[in-house]
Amino acid sequence: MPLISQTPAWKSLETHWKEIGRLRMRDLFEADPERCERFSLEQCGIYLDYSKNLITEETVRRLMALAETADLSFWGNSLLRGDKVNNTEGRAVLHMALRNLGYRDYQVDGVDVMPGIRSVLARMRAFSEDVRERRWLGYTGQAITDIVSIGIGGSSLGPKMVCEALKPYQNPWLRVHFVSNLDGAQLAQTLTNLNPATTLFVVASKTFTTQDTLANACSAREWCLASLHNEAAIARHFVAVSTNRDAVVEFGIDPHNMFEFWEWVGGRYSLWSAIGLPIALAVGMERFEELLAGAHDMDEHFVEAPPEQNMPIILALLGIWYNNFGGADTQAIIPYDHYLEHFATYLQQVDMESNGKRVTRDGEAVDYQTGAVIWGQPGTDAQHSFFQLIHQGTRLIPTDFILPMRSHKPLDGHHDKLVANCLAQAQALMRGRTEHEARAELVAANMPSEMVEKLVPHRVFPGNRPSNMLVVEQVTPRVLGALIALYEHKVFVQGVVWGVDSFDQWGVELGKQLAGHILADFSQIACSPGVDSSTASLVRRYHLAMND
Ligand code: F6P
Repeated sequence: MPLISQTPAWKSLETHWKEIGRLRMRDLFEADPERCERFSLEQCGIYLDYSKNLITEETVRRLMALAETADLSFWGNSLLRGDKVNNTEGRAVLHMALRNLGYRDYQVDGVDVMPGIRSVLARMRAFSEDVRERRWLGYTGQAITDIVSIGIGGSSLGPKMVCEALKPYQNPWLRVHFVSNLDGAQLAQTLTNLNPATTLFVVASKTFTTQDTLANACSAREWCLASLHNEAAIARHFVAVSTNRDAVVEFGIDPHNMFEFWEWVGGRYSLWSAIGLPIALAVGMERFEELLAGAHDMDEHFVEAPPEQNMPIILALLGIWYNNFGGADTQAIIPYDHYLEHFATYLQQVDMESNGKRVTRDGEAVDYQTGAVIWGQPGTDAQHSFFQLIHQGTRLIPTDFILPMRSHKPLDGHHDKLVANCLAQAQALMRGRTEHEARAELVAANMPSEMVEKLVPHRVFPGNRPSNMLVVEQVTPRVLGALIALYEHKVFVQGVVWGVDSFDQWGVELGKQLAGHILADFSQIACSPGVDSSTASLVRRYHLAMND
């Protein structure tokens, strides 16, 4: 298979970018009153307006041809069939099965995975109801008031983001906390105001070998035993979510308190599995299932809709348009919803761990950019920190705005202002302000002409800066499920076009391995032979500090 960059579809987009670069979005809007209608669609509770992009119908045609060249439908079918699309790890990728509330058949190696999924969902329901209805009691007979989820990466970011996003649906008396960092400060800080007798730990780790998680889980166990004084307490205060039963048992967690999932669930795609247990505990199993239902809606849309009306495909190809042809290195995600505070952080792992790859599935080095740098923060905070650079800086930064029409906390007048700001940012990015407009404004304000000329260059906004507007009625569990699945599929489509394995993550291994060697070196004064002088000197410095 040739690199995608060598295909006529790619070459035609390279030529097309040069033509499009000459167009002005504001002119395109003026020339075509139907532009918004032409470039928008509504699916699964999400209205996507992608009219404020540097595109024409011809662009869309050429982008669709690129997806076809990359054999997107073949890879989509392969995913659904349970083929080992994660080819470097020899694994199927079936997170869609976890939210399969419909008729689809999902198999791995000829075995139906649905009975196992349903059985774990039933156990999650029973357990979360017991805790929420105060039937599951701690060792001293008290009800649980605090859940501490210990996990990192995919075993934390998804549930943490969802719990925050659905905070308006939570019971105030059952608080959920997340601890991920190896820095003991996070665990220590979290436990400061908690009572061991009313705290339940959920230790979440696909492999149950992750250093960060095990270190935190061991310290949490000590904290618990220091107060409850009996090993038998662990069974009432620790549950595990993992694929590795032996390691869970070895850690000392009762296997009856383990919720299993499977190797065909990638860590960053695992919030739909038992890794979502903290979500079920926080908002209840019905709402967790609504989240699954929303994701399932989006799965069906992704699988069934034709490419030109397919929301994940459109978003993915627009990303590729700017990344590979427009030279954009990053993609900003700006939700105008306080509760979506962790959305960009969550997406960073989904997108960057999936598509931050430099070789194709066959191991050939690519000669084009792959995964963009994903970043963002909720508006309006973002407006007052980095929007200056998006509006007037030298870089092209495509931006996704996520905008709920209704707030969960409608304080008088706030939401009108919030929505107005979001719409204004997208409009300003698109329209910009010309030199003529900037000058006219200053003159109208009676500014002396010398001052006007001095200020004009600073007050010009180039505009023509692309954004997508994703509008939802309100961030409900169902809508959130659809939104997350939308981005998951977007990442899949981009990975297919770039020809990379979006489901492995070898890039996190080397650092883990070297940390093991360095840790061993701390026990001796000198580093092992062959260690570079910088690392050796830093190890020595640490050694001295520790023995001071
Ligand atoms: O370090 C990367 C990673 O392997 C992620 O892909 C994964 O989500 C995370 O670590 C946690 O792994 P585990 O769930 O096995 O503890």
